[in-house]
Amino acid sequence: MRVVLLGAPGSGKGTQACLLATALGVPAISTGEMLRQAVLAGNDLGRRVEGVMAAGQLVDDGLMAEVVRERLAQADASSGFVLDGYPRTLAQSATLDRILAQGQAALDHVVMLEVEEQLLVARARGRGRSDDREDVVRARLTVYAEKTRPLVDHYAARGALVRVDGNRTIPEVTRAIVAALGLEAA
Ligand code: AP5
Ligand code: MG
Repeated sequence: MRVVLLGAPGSGKGTQACLLATALGVPAISTGEMLRQAVLAGNDLGRRVEGVMAAGQLVDDGLMAEVVRERLAQADASSGFVLDGYPRTLAQSATLDRILAQGQAALDHVVMLEVEEQLLVARARGRGRSDDREDVVRARLTVYAEKTRPLVDHYAARGALVRVDGNRTIPEVTRAIVAALGLEAA
């Protein structure tokens, strides 16, 4: 199964991607996590993205395409994945479709985690990541509204979107996703 988790910063994408991936027996793939690892490793990718991430802005679509293409080509992703943090722009969603089509695959579901804005800010504040300063969180929310939210309508128009109320506790949200994807018996 190939699933994308959409949602604002702090909506719980990473948390739910890990839980759902374990339930499905597929890898959770977080582009944010991959980029943070690259920054930590101090490699070429990390040096290229560090400043953009610290400012809460989006890394260039072309560079992200390379990162995602390479990750999805790995053997563990061949039978499915839960993707968190990609796509984030309409151009990225077209890229993802192309990458999957090259392997005769397509997305099965796009899950939108809907969370109230004041909860998003409160959740990010508790975490202590370098882009969790309140001004950077605000910048990430603005970028989300401008660049990523249009993907909700895009996937809804395709009939691929499932909306889940993400304002509840972590296990309640997981149960809602599992139910929405029709996986109860899995
Ligand atoms: P990324 O890492 O994807 O960050 P984000 O989208 O801003 O989201 P977060 O990781 O902050 O939140 P989340 O939705 O994963 O929530 P989480 O589960 O952690 O991206 C970081 C940066 O990388 C971007 O700003 C950009 O620069 C770059 N980047 C990444 N992908 C890119 C792309 N495709 N294109 C361009 N640039 C890209 O939960 C948040 C907190 O809340 C946690 O502490 C968690 O424990 C808690 N929590 C979760 N669920 C609940 C709940 N139900 N109740 C209470 N607490 C909860
Ligand atoms: Mg995350």
